[in-house]
Amino acid sequence: MAPIATTLTALAEENSLHQKFIRDEDERPKVAYNQFSTEIPIISLAGIDETNGHHREEICKKIVEACEDWGIFQVIDHGIDSKLINQMTCLAREFFALPSEEKLRFDMSGGKKGGFIVSSHLQGEAVQDWREIVTYFSYPIKARDYSRWPDKPEGWKATTEAYSEQLIKLASKLLEVLSEAMGLEKDALTKSCVDMDQKVVVNFYPKCPQPELTLGLKRHTDPGTITLLLQDQVGGLQATKDGGKTWITVQPIEGAFVVNLGDHGHYLSNGRFKNADHQAVVNSNCSRLSIATFQNPAPEAIVYPLKIRDGENSIMEKPITFLEMYKRKMSNDLELARIKKLSKQN
Ligand code: SIN
Ligand code: FE2
Repeated sequence: MAPIATTLTALAEENSLHQKFIRDEDERPKVAYNQFSTEIPIISLAGIDETNGHHREEICKKIVEACEDWGIFQVIDHGIDSKLINQMTCLAREFFALPSEEKLRFDMSGGKKGGFIVSSHLQGEAVQDWREIVTYFSYPIKARDYSRWPDKPEGWKATTEAYSEQLIKLASKLLEVLSEAMGLEKDALTKSCVDMDQKVVVNFYPKCPQPELTLGLKRHTDPGTITLLLQDQVGGLQATKDGGKTWITVQPIEGAFVVNLGDHGHYLSNGRFKNADHQAVVNSNCSRLSIATFQNPAPEAIVYPLKIRDGENSIMEKPITFLEMYKRKMSNDLELARIKKLSKQN
């Protein structure tokens, strides 16, 4: 079998999957990438900015219920310019179609912040995800390191800036709804972030010779407050239901955003809002693109429930910083991967 190529594009042409990507049986996909479910709530935001009347109230109720029941839902009529969405996805596809040498000019495997990488696997983890990503930090503005933002294709920088600006507004709007639902001031959740950090990860999943053996992105919850995911029409995003026992494939809807509550949002609501478990599966017919915009708190932001309802106890022992929370999550994941690797060797 050929050694791992510098990008996945070459491996996609092979007949069998390189061992590096083969998952243990319990981790492999259970449901096909295109076996769509419509169970995940789809919520129209048309009218959410109305200041009076029942309309806004009804939309907010749906959002709150979706966060309580699922921690994942789709929004349509969200007000983000569809031309901008199209530009963003076209440019992203053009980037991944560039020759390997071009993409690797932004290689971030040496620990650089932002840029291009093939299957962002955890260090020390045996099995890699079947994906390429390009990532950049867009908020706070001082975090923008343009030397790590691809300069090709042309127009990328202006488009991504406009996209980031619109998405941070949409995320803030959703966080306002959740703050109010907790009986707090509208800006309570954003304030507890100190600074709303924004990181964008553009995922490209090339077609895969043996998709039944691997994952595009392994099962996880997002660490931050809220994530807005744009996906193309191929399908591959999967979420769990029945307490994590059953997987379902999220139905792609053109121009919609999939909203995920992350760990930070979950802890701040004292577990009332779910942090949805999800993963991405791949297929042998075509490649898939998704763009995840993560709204995270600042590293020094304090993570602790903002509201503990009568009769509840805090789900956290004590307040910690987001940085500490993130580090613990990563080291737990590494530890689990290490134990799994050891048990396979014995
Ligand atoms: C993610 O979880 O960040 C991406 C999932 C997807 O590509 O569907
Ligand atoms: Fe995710």
